[in-house]
Amino acid sequence: MHTPVHTSLYPMPLYPTIVEDHASNTSNSVLILDQTRLPHLVVQVRLNTMHDVVHAICSMQVRGAPLIGVTAAYGVALGLRHDVSDKHLAQVIATLSVTRPTAVNLRWALARMQHVLQKSALATRREVAWNEAGAIAAEDRAANAAIGEHGLQLIKRCWGKRGVLHLMTHCNAGRLATVANGTALAPIYAALAAGIAVHVWVSETRPRNQGLLTAWELAEAGVPHTLIADNAAGLLIMQGKVDMVIVGADRIAANGDTANKVGTYLKALAAAAHGVPFYVAAPLSTIDFSCPSGQDIPIEERAAAELGAGDVPVANPAFDITPAHLITGIISERGVATPEELAQWKT
Ligand code: MRU
Repeated sequence: MHTPVHTSLYPMPLYPTIVEDHASNTSNSVLILDQTRLPHLVVQVRLNTMHDVVHAICSMQVRGAPLIGVTAAYGVALGLRHDVSDKHLAQVIATLSVTRPTAVNLRWALARMQHVLQKSALATRREVAWNEAGAIAAEDRAANAAIGEHGLQLIKRCWGKRGVLHLMTHCNAGRLATVANGTALAPIYAALAAGIAVHVWVSETRPRNQGLLTAWELAEAGVPHTLIADNAAGLLIMQGKVDMVIVGADRIAANGDTANKVGTYLKALAAAAHGVPFYVAAPLSTIDFSCPSGQDIPIEERAAAELGAGDVPVANPAFDITPAHLITGIISERGVATPEELAQWKT
């Protein structure tokens, strides 16, 4: 279990965050990039069972809301290997659904798998599960591309104030958090491809340091960037060194309140105080219309050990809520909407 399949000191070639492996006739599996080893080591790990998937999500070997959803969908396919009954399907879904509480993409992907699989004949259920998980992954790739294009239009409008457009992001909402180009970073990659000079302020994102993941993937893509301590963000925004903030999301409530990695709210406050546009980029699968406001979003409390503080009392909420009134716009695969306009995307 969890034997590394490939280990390298260097980031080349570009390993996918998750990929199906059907090389063996008897057991299908998925390969993931172990994000607990990045940026120091590039390690691919094989997930053979649903329990491997549970471990990968809980330990944050895979992380980022969209990628968590895709991985959980593959977890269902792996979980049906020896038993495709309705009862076992329900057990698999229940086990996977409690791995992480805040990213709604997890629940969304599992609900979709359950809906499709309950309607499918037992004889083809396994195959249907793999196909549906693959479809969810493919849709994430398409959503990343569309978010990149819509975000690029915003960047183009904001560009021109200076030669280089300075963006700020928090956590990692890039390719490592999705199947393709990410959400918050997709417009930045699109801008680079369009010849726009960009520079990204990357906040460290204590305590798990997802900012290092962002710096790693921006370096891999050739995007100029600077790593900062989380607490430096307010100063840089006050000094006029930030033209636009773009972050991802783990869950967007019906009123536009947004849960994202802890520390996002402080950046939104500073951006609003200094008139800097603050955008949230996320696929529709991150919007939870059953959640009226941010107060209804469960906030994951993670282990005290993550703070590395030894034997002192610790609180470790992993996410915070940015109220809708601090958000300039939400970028999804459908376009850009203000929080008040969000209902137009309800299907
Ligand atoms: O705890 P993580 O690393 O899974 O949290 C990730 C974030 O908060 C991301 O910003 C969010 O999931 C968006 S990823 C496209």
